[in-house]
Amino acid sequence: MSMPRFHAVLTGASGGIGRAIALKLAPLCETLILVGRDATKLTALQREFPQARAVAADLTTAAGREAVRRAAAESPGGIDLLVNNAGAGEFAWFLDQSDEMLERIVQVNVLATLQLTRRLLPLLLAQPAARIVNVGSIFGHLAYPGYVAYSATKFALHGFSEALRRELADTPVQVSWFAPRATRTAMNSAALCALNEELGVAMDDPQAVAAAFVALLEHPVRERLLGMPERLFARLNQLVPGLVDRALRRQLPAIRRHARGEPTQPSSQGVHP
Ligand SMILES: NC(=O)c1ccc[n+]([C@@H]2O[C@H](COP(=O)([O-])OP(=O)(O)OC[C@H]3O[C@@H](n4cnc5c(N)ncnc54)[C@H](OP(=O)(O)O)[C@@H]3O)[C@@H](O)[C@H]2O)c1
Repeated sequence: MSMPRFHAVLTGASGGIGRAIALKLAPLCETLILVGRDATKLTALQREFPQARAVAADLTTAAGREAVRRAAAESPGGIDLLVNNAGAGEFAWFLDQSDEMLERIVQVNVLATLQLTRRLLPLLLAQPAARIVNVGSIFGHLAYPGYVAYSATKFALHGFSEALRRELADTPVQVSWFAPRATRTAMNSAALCALNEELGVAMDDPQAVAAAFVALLEHPVRERLLGMPERLFARLNQLVPGLVDRALRRQLPAIRRHARGEPTQPSSQGVHP
C-alpha cells in the first residue's frame, strides 16, 4: 500500500510510546519534528533520521509552544500531521496527590495540548489535507480508581477531540482519537505494574502501540481504542455504568493497597479494564 509522505510534529517523542511511534513514523515522513523536554534523548533519536529535527521544549510554557510553532512554520512543506502524545500521569490515591502533581497532570495533558493545537492549527488548515491525532487513553472512556486526576484529563482530552473533529468537519483537517491501554513505559510505576500483575491486567509493549498507531494513519477512523477486554468495558461503562462500578468496587482493596503502598494482603480478582 502506498503511504502519504507526512510532514509531522510528534510531541512526547522522548517517552516510551512517543519514541516507538517516532521509529515507525519517521520512514513515512518527509519532515518530522520531534518534541520533548529531554534534549539528549531527542537528539539521539533525531540522529537516526536525517529528515527529523529535535525541538526541546516544555509545552506547558508559552515559549516552549512558540518554539514548536516556529519550527513547524520554518519546516519545508509546513506540517500536515500533528500527534499530541506528550502526557503525564501518576498512579496514586487522590487524597495523597499534591497540588503540584494535579497541576502538572492537568497542564500537560489538557491545557498544553489545547494551546499547542490552537497555535499549530493555522499551519494545518493551510494544507490541502491534514491530520491531528490525540493520544488519549482507555481511561478517557472508563475512569479508574488510583487514576482520578489522570482519568479526568483524558476525559477532557476525549471531549476536546470530539468537539474539534466536529468544528473542523468542513475543513481539510481530520481529527482522530487514539486510546492505548496500559503500556510498559516509564509513566507506569512499579506499584502500578504490581497491581496489573495481581489483577491479571495485560500491558502492551510500546512497539505494539506504535504499530496500531501506523495502522490508524493508514486507515483513518474517528476513534481507535486498543485492547480487549478494555474496549468492551469502555462500551459497558457507557451503557451500564452501575455494572462497571460494582466490578471496580471488588478491585478496590487491591488498587488502594498498591496506590498507597500498604502491606500485602490477599485480594479478590475483578474485571480488568
Ligand atoms: N504508558 C501507558 O500505560 C499509557 C496508556 C495509555 C495512554 N498513554 C498515553 O500515551 C502518551 C505517552 O505516554 P508514555 O507512556 O510514553 O509516557 P512517558 O514515557 O512518560 O513519556 C511522556 C512524554 O511526554 C513528554 N512530556 C511530559 N511533560 C512534558 C512537557 N511539560 N513538555 C513537553 N513534553 C512533555 C515527555 O517528555 P520528557 O520526558 O522529555 O520530559 C515524554 O516524551 C501519554 O499521553 C499517555 O497519557 C500511556
